[in-house]
Formats: sequence, C-alpha cells, structure tokens
Amino acid sequence: MKKGLFITVEGADGCGKTTQLNLIAQYLRDMGADVLLTREPGGAQLGLELREILLHYDGFVSSKCESFLFFADRAQHVDTVIKPAIQQGKIVVCDRYTDSTVAYQGYGKGVDISQIQYLNNLATDSLLPDLTIVFDVDSEIAQQRVGAQKDRLESEGIDFHARVRNGYLQIAKSEPLRVKVVDANPPVDVVFESVKSIIDDFI
Ligand code: TMP
Repeated sequence: MKKGLFITVEGADGCGKTTQLNLIAQYLRDMGADVLLTREPGGAQLGLELREILLHYDGFVSSKCESFLFFADRAQHVDTVIKPAIQQGKIVVCDRYTDSTVAYQGYGKGVDISQIQYLNNLATDSLLPDLTIVFDVDSEIAQQRVGAQKDRLESEGIDFHARVRNGYLQIAKSEPLRVKVVDANPPVDVVFESVKSIIDDFI
C-alpha cells in the first residue's frame, strides 16, 4: 500500500460524511494502514478555539472574517498536524479542507473564489489532497438529517445549502481526477460500497 497519503472528505451539512469517515478509517486500518483521522475546523489545539468561534459565535461575523478564521485554522492544522503525519508515512483522512471554503464561503456566501484559492494555497503551501470524496445529498434530505439543533453555519437557509451543494459539484467537474462524487442519498451500507470501490481504485 502507498504511504504518506492525504484523503479529504467533503459535503454539505447533513450529507452523512462523519459516519462514512469512520468507516473509511476502519477500512484502511484493516488493510494495515497507519491512519490519522482529523478535521477542519479544529484539527489542531489552537483550532479548537477557532472552531468554537466559527460554529457558535453569537453575533455578526462577516463572510471575509469567517473565511480568514478558516484559513488561520487550516494553516496551523497543515503545519502542525497534517504535514508531519504525511511525512511519517501515515494516511491522513481529513473531515473537510480547502474545498469547504470554496463551497461554503465562495459558492455559498459569494466571497471571490479565485481569491479563496489564492489564500488556500497560502495557508497550505499548496498542499492538495491526493483524493477527495464528496458526499452528495439532496438539500432537503440533508436539512432533515441535521435535525433541530443547528450550529451557526447549519442555521443558514436551504438556499445557502443548495448553493454549497452546487459548489461541490462544480469543484468535482473541474478536478475529476482528484474529486470523486458519491451519491449519499441511499442507506449507509450502500453508500459505503461506492466509497470502497473509489478507495480500492485509488490504493
Ligand atoms: P462539521 O465539522 O460538523 O462539518 O462543521 C464544520 C462547519 O463549518 C460546516 O458547517 C462547514 C463549515 N465550514 C466552512 O464553512 N468553511 C470551511 O472552510 C470549513 C472547513 C468548514
């Protein structure tokens, strides 16, 4: 098996990616891989505080400010967690990364996408995932899955989440080799069969 890989998992809120992420990590570990499961925001110690602000700050947050907090979280995460783990030969599986900012702050909130890409590159030293899996689900089903207790971003309306979903599909269209879309509408085990075949092809 290849060593030192970087896999990211993406999708709109309620797409079911957290369940799939744990299944992916277990699947890779069963193959003998040394897996580091991490997430954004909040994958590094400092990022935990940024996550708290990003998800629960109880006041106005401008879209630009929000974007910069995600970039700050990412820069610290890449330098202190992701890069060292890849260098140690681990398979890093990350719950959200650069594509989230393009989809949420870019497509969702209208922040300029080319500038987001520039700042993503600055934050990550242009570290791109080897593979990205996007879980695509109907926006109304996703909203139902999120339930009644919503954080700051989950509380954005259905139109916002539909734009985010469309953003992910555009990203996948523009980078078909890196980004694979999985239909996440079916039950968990059916979705995971699709995921396994993507991972098997990749590894
Ligand atoms: P999650 O960890 O439960 O997926 O929540 C993270 C939330 O933050 C989710 O609503 C997506 C959002 N987010 C952005 O808006 N931009 C980003 O760059 C990242 C990493 C997450």
